[in-house]
Amino acid sequence: MILDNHIPIMTNEILSFIDGKKNLSILDCTFGGGGHSKMFLERGHFVTAIDQDNNSLMIAKKLKKSFPNIFFHKSNFKDIDLLSLKFKKFNFILLDLGFSSNQLDNNNIGLSFKVNSDLNMNYLCSDLDAFKILNYYDEEDLHRVFHLYGEINQSEKLSKYIVQQRSIKKIKTNFEFIEILRNSGVNFRSKKIHFATQAFQALRIETNNELENLLIFLKKVHKYIQIDGHLAIISFHSLEDRIVKNFFKNNRVKKNNKYYNDENWGFEILTKKPLTASKPEIIKNNRSRSAKLRVGRFMNWLIISLNSFWYSFL
Ligand SMILES: C[S@@+](CC[C@H](N)C(=O)[O-])C[C@H]1O[C@@H](n2cnc3c(N)ncnc32)[C@H](O)[C@@H]1O
Repeated sequence: MILDNHIPIMTNEILSFIDGKKNLSILDCTFGGGGHSKMFLERGHFVTAIDQDNNSLMIAKKLKKSFPNIFFHKSNFKDIDLLSLKFKKFNFILLDLGFSSNQLDNNNIGLSFKVNSDLNMNYLCSDLDAFKILNYYDEEDLHRVFHLYGEINQSEKLSKYIVQQRSIKKIKTNFEFIEILRNSGVNFRSKKIHFATQAFQALRIETNNELENLLIFLKKVHKYIQIDGHLAIISFHSLEDRIVKNFFKNNRVKKNNKYYNDENWGFEILTKKPLTASKPEIIKNNRSRSAKLRVGRFMNWLIISLNSFWYSFL
């Protein structure tokens, strides 16, 4: 059965960067439920899409019946260089990071702390899952995961308690894990969010290697983007947003048209502050409340100089 209830977010904001442009080649690295891809296809653009998810593959097959100009690759976007892409360079590249509502609703994946399910959290078909992390990681590694990815202040105390509890009985379900969190004596930071949020986030990031995937992809992305093309990235938590912000900052164009990274390419940062969803969108789709969109325009000084050199002879 195909799960198909994901609502694409910040669509107007994304479209504003390609307004009036025709026949663009677009790379949607996080196809998910295909909402953004469909929006591009409906406007006549060509879409190459990537997602590691089986459900996404089925949605893409269905979409192709109405829109032949979609080319789907079931893969991790960090492996972009291993794909045979129809377009080698794209006018617009989109990453809408994390998991989709379809994956959140899939109890076999078990991303939600509201529904009891077997511990998994692997939404990218990788080898790791939350069960293995909680029951087999040593105390030091657990500490690393909760400290770095959950930003839990007392992550040492939490890791010690988990190791103690699992020696009595293996931790098998989301609700068993929540019970351990509740009894751990750890003071979880925020009163605004469910107390299990940070620990679930940490396990999800580790299971799916979320930050590493993004970092690897960002090292390669300049090879796949056209001059004047856009790179747009939506992130949902501060760890991801920090990576995106630093990427644009470290690869920006300086005032004298030199690039900050001492390479021939760089980005003009088009979103000094990240764009966020509008109030009406947040009311309609609560998931959009934590989204941050950053966009950069790709420039390559060597090619720009060569072009102006040739034009000077015309
Ligand atoms: C927020 S959803 C994208 C929703 C999509 N923009 C839409 O409109 O339906 C994120 C999607 O990215 C995929 N994803 C996340 N990290 C990925 C990675 N490293 N490689 C491939 N797909 C990834 C997930 O499987 C999920 O389907």
